[in-house]
Amino acid sequence: MSANIAEMEKRREQAQMGGGQKRIDAQHAKGRLTARERLHILLDEGSFEELDMYVEHNCTDFGMEAQKIPGDGVVTGSGTINGRLVFVYSQDFTVFGGSLSEAHAMKICKVMDNAMKVGAPVIGLNDSGGARIQEGVASLGGYAEVFQRNVLASGVVPQISLIMGPCAGGAVYSPAMTDFIFMVKDSSYMFVTGPDVVKTVTNEVVTQEELGGAISHTTKSGVADNAFENDIEALLATRDFFDYLPENNRLGAPERPTNDPWDREDFSLDTLIPPSANQPYDMHELIRKTVDEADFFEVQPTHAANIIIGFGRIEGRTVGIVANQPMVLAGVLDINSSKKAARFVRFCDAFEIPIVTFVDVPGFLPGTAQEFGGIIKHGAKLLFAYAEATVPKITVITRKAYGGAYDVMASKHLRGDLNYAWPTAEIAVMGAKGAVEIIFRSDIGDPEKIAERTKEYEDRFANPFVAASKGFIDEVIYPHSTRKRIALGLRKLRNKALENPWKKHDNIPL
Ligand code: HXC
Repeated sequence: MSANIAEMEKRREQAQMGGGQKRIDAQHAKGRLTARERLHILLDEGSFEELDMYVEHNCTDFGMEAQKIPGDGVVTGSGTINGRLVFVYSQDFTVFGGSLSEAHAMKICKVMDNAMKVGAPVIGLNDSGGARIQEGVASLGGYAEVFQRNVLASGVVPQISLIMGPCAGGAVYSPAMTDFIFMVKDSSYMFVTGPDVVKTVTNEVVTQEELGGAISHTTKSGVADNAFENDIEALLATRDFFDYLPENNRLGAPERPTNDPWDREDFSLDTLIPPSANQPYDMHELIRKTVDEADFFEVQPTHAANIIIGFGRIEGRTVGIVANQPMVLAGVLDINSSKKAARFVRFCDAFEIPIVTFVDVPGFLPGTAQEFGGIIKHGAKLLFAYAEATVPKITVITRKAYGGAYDVMASKHLRGDLNYAWPTAEIAVMGAKGAVEIIFRSDIGDPEKIAERTKEYEDRFANPFVAASKGFIDEVIYPHSTRKRIALGLRKLRNKALENPWKKHDNIPL
């Protein structure tokens, strides 16, 4: 018996060494942790249960039969995060650059299948050069098996991807189909093809960092959601983030105890809106003063910052927050902000997370860059996402709600459940200046008349009461009571039951 155990232990040790000490040292020298070290930080102490530790590839080309490493470049299994079950895979760059063989793919597929069977989230720690080149089509097939599962799991269990090394090819397409992507600054990259191929094909000379580093993807492309300083910070943030998410699409938003009173009033909000309509203010202040313990996990903070998205809690229960940000581009809706918020709204709706929307939006951004870039289609994504969402939707208009953007931002007409406005709200087709220049064009040469007309327009429309008189706004509320009103609203809406007509699926403008 003891000989058998000794043999098992020997094999375990061998598997745990991955590609060997030299490669582990090289990984550390680049400031990166190994696949197992990462899981150790991500999961609750001692909770990891590994699967398929002895799986090997079956490739016989290019001398591969002589190079077999147990586990084949990915550590898979399950564990818990703050007591809640999660399935995980963690690619091991020390084994063939974390590249994906057929056997490696089957290990990932197994944990995804297990996660789907029991309704638990999947977190993938990606550190991979993509399809294992020596295996050819077998590895491409392996990737497609993973992609297929990503799609079937989408909207059923949350899927989170961490990018923790150079990821190419399939190693970026699988994360792209998951719900959230976190990257590590200066040590993780995502590209379909690396700088060498880029140079050959397009003659562009570009570094890995410029082409697919964390800053490029969390500011320019918006492919990744958040960037963290190092592996440890990324993994610890993922633990925090995980706590906001439900286990699956049937369990509803998670709840945890809070000491923050539901009816806490914040009188500083009564003066948040500056005296002039053109002066910005930071919408984060309202968000932090509304959610429990000022705890807000912002997603995509550096991409399309004219809209803010993220998770907070009210009375301990997760809510998704969408808010225009007057500090950036006056909070206007443009292509990137529409896409960013639309995907977030759809995530919340898929996972039964109520949506709280704070509105201060001057409209859609005009101009050729936006029109040629397809703002009509991209803006429609957000409109579509809000309109199809059946979760509780509470909207608070703090200041501007102009034009189409008024409609889009979870208005009453898109089945907003509770639509509140602060007394400072201005709900109209457009701002007074623009409106007067169009409807009183003949007076443009007469500044006095224009000023008079502008005043007249402002008096009529720069308030919430016209909309309230039509029932489009349920109540004009004190800013200081915002948290209380939202908390009461969410209580009321807890058992909301609303279904869309049966369909195979909708046809959101992509
Ligand atoms: C097999 C690979 C590999 C791969 C890396 N390695 N990628 N082995 N298949 N795809 C091996 C290397 O040979 C090397 O082995 C070790 O991993 C470390 O790689 P390095 O190149 O030394 O590391 P680094 O300089 O950090 O560069 C990492 C890298 C680069 C940027 C990922 O290795 C790279 O460009 N790899 C190829 C990327 C790629 O084109 N993949 C195929 C994508 S096609 P030794 O023994 O020397 O240590 C694809 C299709 C999917 O994925 C379908 C999508 C829809």
